[in-house]
Amino acid sequence: MTDSVIISPDVSWSDLSLPTPIALGVMASGKGSNFVAVANAIREGKLNAEIKVVIYNKAQAKVKEKAEALGIPTVFCNHRDYSHREAFDEVLVETLKAYQVHWIVMAGWMRVVTPVLINAFPDRLINIHPSLLPSFKGIDGVKQALAAEVKIAGCTVHLVRLEVDSGPILMQAAVPILADDTEATLHQRIQTQEYAILPRAIALAAQSCLIS
Ligand code: GRF
Repeated sequence: MTDSVIISPDVSWSDLSLPTPIALGVMASGKGSNFVAVANAIREGKLNAEIKVVIYNKAQAKVKEKAEALGIPTVFCNHRDYSHREAFDEVLVETLKAYQVHWIVMAGWMRVVTPVLINAFPDRLINIHPSLLPSFKGIDGVKQALAAEVKIAGCTVHLVRLEVDSGPILMQAAVPILADDTEATLHQRIQTQEYAILPRAIALAAQSCLIS
C-alpha cells in the first residue's frame, strides 16, 4: 500500500502570500520540530512572518536550543511556579504582548489553556494536533488512532477554543495507517505532514483576517 497523503484545503504557497510580515509567538514544550518547520518556511521566503519569541515550559525542552541557534529570543515560563492555570496564562499573555506578538502558535504545547490566554488573542491562537479532529483529542492522539484500528490517521491545525483540541479547523492532512505501523512510525509520518500544513495554516489564518 502506498502512503498517499491528502492535504485539505490544498493550497500552494503562491496562494498564501501576505502583504506584510506577521509577528508570531511560538509556545512549545518539547523537541520543537514544528517550530523548526515554521522557521524554515519563513527562511525560505514562503511564510511572510517573523518569530518574535519562543516560550517553553519545560527546562529540558529541546526547542530552546533550536530557537537559540536561529537567534530567536526564548523565555522559560514554568507552570509549576503558579498555583493555578489562569495565573500562568497571565504571565504568558504579558510575555507575548511584551514581544508585540499578534499570532500565537502552540507547537506541541502540553498545557491546557484558559480563557485568559484565549481571550487575549481572539482567533489568533493556533494549535497543531496529531489526529484528524474531532477524533482522538487529548494526549496520545496517535496511540488512540492505532487502538481504534482506524485506517486513516492524520493531523489538524485549528484555532483554539476552550475545549481541549477543539475550534475551527484551518487545515488537515490525512495519513494512511500501514499494516506494520507502530506508534513511532505512524507519528513520524504524521509529523512530516505537520511540517507541511502548520506553516500553510498560519498563512491561511492570517489571510482570512485580512479579508474579514
Ligand atoms: C506534535 O505531534 C504535535 O501535533 C503535538 O505535539 C507534537 C509536537 O512535536 N501537539 P514537536 O515538539 O514539534 O516535534
